[in-house]
Amino acid sequence: MSDDHTTSDPTTDASQVRYDQARYVNDGQYEPLLSEKDQTSVDISSDNNDDGDGDSNSPLPDDLTRDELELPGLSEPELARHYTRLSQMIYGIDSGPYPLGSCTMKYNPKFTEDVAALPSAAVHPDRSAESIQGTLELLYRLQDYLGRIGGMDAVTLQPPAGAAGEFVGIRVAAAYHEHNGEGHRDEVIIPESAHGTNFATAALGGYDVVSLPSDEDGRVDLEALEAALSENTAALMLTNPNTLGLFERDIEEIADMVHDVGGLLYYDGANLNALLGRARPGDMGFDVMHYNVHKTFATPHGGGGPGAGPVGVVGELESFLPAPRVREADTETNAGADSEKPTYELFDPDHTIGKVHGFQGNWLVLVKAFAYIARLGDEGLTDASAKAVLNANYLASQIEYDVPYGPFHHEFVASAGDQDAADVAKRMLDYGVHPPTTKWPEIVPEALMTEPTEIESKDTLDRLAAAFNAVAEESDGVLEDAPERTTARRIDQTSAARNPRLSWHELAEEDT
Ligand SMILES: Cc1ncc(COP(=O)(O)O)c(C=O)c1O
Repeated sequence: MSDDHTTSDPTTDASQVRYDQARYVNDGQYEPLLSEKDQTSVDISSDNNDDGDGDSNSPLPDDLTRDELELPGLSEPELARHYTRLSQMIYGIDSGPYPLGSCTMKYNPKFTEDVAALPSAAVHPDRSAESIQGTLELLYRLQDYLGRIGGMDAVTLQPPAGAAGEFVGIRVAAAYHEHNGEGHRDEVIIPESAHGTNFATAALGGYDVVSLPSDEDGRVDLEALEAALSENTAALMLTNPNTLGLFERDIEEIADMVHDVGGLLYYDGANLNALLGRARPGDMGFDVMHYNVHKTFATPHGGGGPGAGPVGVVGELESFLPAPRVREADTETNAGADSEKPTYELFDPDHTIGKVHGFQGNWLVLVKAFAYIARLGDEGLTDASAKAVLNANYLASQIEYDVPYGPFHHEFVASAGDQDAADVAKRMLDYGVHPPTTKWPEIVPEALMTEPTEIESKDTLDRLAAAFNAVAEESDGVLEDAPERTTARRIDQTSAARNPRLSWHELAEEDT
């Protein structure tokens, strides 16, 4: 480490104490990144050359290859400790329960990583369709699985997150209306309790947002919906079960009302985990939906991307989906091939909205979703939704906080009452569990939106309930000082988002 890394005493900045303890080493310096440690020249000529005979083994031209690389001189233990320590500074789904309502933080089973790490999954996407038949078959079958799970006729796998899927879905809806000479439709109706991305999607798609109040039992207010619908309605975006975990019992009537004015019904798939194997958006009358594969099919969350947020549509909207999609080659194209074995090809839908991602989307994420669905099968998926609902109901029955709305499915929204929900959340971290989503939906004061998912055992749910109940008894003073036991304490989230300090150099500069 060079002296440039020396800083003032980091413990003087209260908000940084924990962070600095982790990043600070004994001799008064910040720890450099691994890539900034002393470099060593490593001979890689044998990787380029064939058995030392001098002939290049690399597919690249000689002037683009080199024989030496500057790499940090690290031992294996140094490397292992570095990453292990970093992983311990954060709370993740592998650390303990993570009941973040609506976000559905499912454990990512390691077998899906194994499948994605198979050599056959390491396919460069820019190859001819003939040479990537296995890749195309997997994508085709995943389109089919998702279509059958959602009750949709066609699926695109391209969008890289749920929010990106929403945007694609709304763009597809817009293209459909435009194509039918109904481009004047300029309103999207969204329940007040919806996720922020729904509002952002509609606005970004060029629509005016019409906000829909909930009725007194927390569901869509049918009178308000009637008043909001008009010949200008392009779509109603709905989450079902909604963000209170409540199933929209009137969904068929809602679908009829929207369709009667010529609008489309959009399904936000964030809560699909509650319905897997039991009910399908397509059967409820939805026309277009996104799937959050990280919520429902246990792929890594990806922090807004790179993930996957496939979009499914009913037949009428199929021709507007992004390009390209995968299909079985028809028999003529297939002539001469082994008739037992279908072949697959890429195609552009007739009225496609265009490309929304490179190639087929995030291939390795899609491989993991495929592996998860294939391993669980119909029975496993149905079992997952049953356990998700059971776990949420058991947990709610064990906590002292009031849960004003029900009966709920896979998630519930408790109220922190006189306590500040954000303080409750911070304090729960001190009990070694991740807190629920807070302050949303606003219909519940000081909301604690809680979704344990199917993966937790009864013991873990009891531990979670104990943490909730311990915090419920604590004073405002204790809550305001929390968290005390985490690596980072209260972070100024607004500044962190607006002025991110992405390098320790910036921290060190501020300290001196
Ligand atoms: C109800 C709802 N809709 C949409 C989204 C956006 O999904 P993504 O995080 O995949 O972009 C979320 C995310 O948590 C959500 O909870």
